[in-house]
Amino acid sequence: MHLDDAEIARLYAYPATDRPWVRTNFVATVDGAAHGADGVSGTLGGEADKRVFGVLRSLADVVLVGAGTARDEGYGPADVPIALVTRSLDVPDALRVPGTVVVTTVDAPRDRLDALGDDVDVVARGSGAIDWTAVLDEFTTRGWLHVLCEGGPSLHGELVGLDLVDEVCLTVAPVMAAGPAPRIAHADDAADRPMTLGHALAVDDVLLTRWVRDRA
Ligand SMILES: NC(=O)c1ccc[n+]([C@@H]2O[C@H](COP(=O)([O-])OP(=O)(O)OC[C@H]3O[C@@H](n4cnc5c(N)ncnc54)[C@H](OP(=O)(O)O)[C@@H]3O)[C@@H](O)[C@H]2O)c1
Repeated sequence: MHLDDAEIARLYAYPATDRPWVRTNFVATVDGAAHGADGVSGTLGGEADKRVFGVLRSLADVVLVGAGTARDEGYGPADVPIALVTRSLDVPDALRVPGTVVVTTVDAPRDRLDALGDDVDVVARGSGAIDWTAVLDEFTTRGWLHVLCEGGPSLHGELVGLDLVDEVCLTVAPVMAAGPAPRIAHADDAADRPMTLGHALAVDDVLLTRWVRDRA
């Protein structure tokens, strides 16, 4: 099956919404690893996954990403705002630019906050832990209803635990990894969130799937 970008955009259109719709996008190996032997995920899904990754960004108002992923995968600025989630405020140099939003807690280290300078926009909500309801309220105020979370597994695990994930776009990559890699959502506490299948498409050996949270 061949998919062009317009077809991908049609398949992955956000639903009509008046509140932030949290979509997550991940790739996993056949045995469920969230990264390959090289410690990153970007190379796992090949051409089809790269295209979906790009189109999903083009459909989003904001990309939410954990600082671990941004550091490991070498994130830089994009055409959409990058909302970097971090407790430590260890922000990669490439993201210390206008267009980056740092999502953190109100008690984040003051010296590091000051060192970020004026270019970076800070959304600090919650004490000790990020208050996600307040963060999503801020996104609503900014008109950011199409939220795309690109991981990683720790951030995803927290959002799943809070039942804030509305949709998971998962590429299954044609590789077995074994090894110690986490799954795409990792947390200390287990959750049970029923999902319905939006679509499953085979492109060459890659499986593109989309799962929607079943809140019925
Ligand atoms: N398969 C995929 O599609 C996919 C997608 C993304 C990432 N990955 C892989 O996953 C690995 C990284 O995993 P990870 O679990 O470490 O990634 P992560 O969730 O992106 O990063 C964890 C870090 O992000 C910050 N963070 C996450 N949730 C937070 C929260 N609720 N509050 C405050 N800070 C929060 C913290 O940063 P500070 O330390 O700065 O406080 C934390 O140490 C990499 O190997 C990457 O390649 C795979």
